[in-house]
Amino acid sequence: MKRIVAITGAGISAESGIKTFRDEDGLWENYRIEDVATPEAWHKDYKLVLHFYNERLKQLIHVSPNNAHLSLVRLEANYEVDVITQNVDDLHERAGSSKVLHLHGELRKKRSQVDPNYILPIDSNTNEIQLGDLCPYGQQMRPHIVWFGESVPKMEEAADIVQKADIILIIGTSMAVYPAAGLIYYAKNDIPVYYIDPKADQTTIPNRSVIRIAQKAGSGLPKVVDELIEMSKNGN
Ligand code: OAD
Repeated sequence: MKRIVAITGAGISAESGIKTFRDEDGLWENYRIEDVATPEAWHKDYKLVLHFYNERLKQLIHVSPNNAHLSLVRLEANYEVDVITQNVDDLHERAGSSKVLHLHGELRKKRSQVDPNYILPIDSNTNEIQLGDLCPYGQQMRPHIVWFGESVPKMEEAADIVQKADIILIIGTSMAVYPAAGLIYYAKNDIPVYYIDPKADQTTIPNRSVIRIAQKAGSGLPKVVDELIEMSKNGN
């Protein structure tokens, strides 16, 4: 089977009711990155950072995967599919995708601030990390999120996956945040790259030819998926 790699961003979850970051009324219009999404913010004010991510987690419980998440699952009948997501929600998993790599961490998990490998699921009864929730080293547990200024531990694994792709789908991302936005350059040169995003026509992806589908993921992606399934049935 051919391999498809879907690189997804906040836009794929927008139609589920989760705000993107950089669109009008996006999260970063209402919060300053430096107040809630950096290691410095964490050390300055645990309480504010915990509040920000606890709110995001609570919102997650009230939303569901949409057509776009579900259509990626349909591809699995005809292709090997890997999802590499910048999203910290779990909508790909809840839709049923088998292989999901979270580049920027996961809202449903917490980790020790001194041992990055001490990671636990957040209790689904409370759905929050509480102040005073300590790791075995006696330190406050933090969100399992990759903040600005931190390295992206899963980048190498993601790059390996992209290198093996026969087809790439980029869905709902502004391609503004590195190193995630650079993943595309690990792909083989001659493979098709589809970019499905209402702003696909406005976003530059230098030195790479891209099939741009300037539509919302919920309507644009199912059509691309139908096409790809048809191609696979015809032996292409
Ligand atoms: P952005 O908010 O930067 O970009 C969202 C993209 O989704 C834009 O290109 C929109 O045009 C597109 N979009 C909006 N509605 C859509 C829809 N219905 N269907 C498809 N696309 C739609 O979000 P990301 O690119 O995901 O990192 O941002 C990357 C990273 O920046 C995030 O993972 C987060 C953020 O800061 C961290 O917090 C570490």
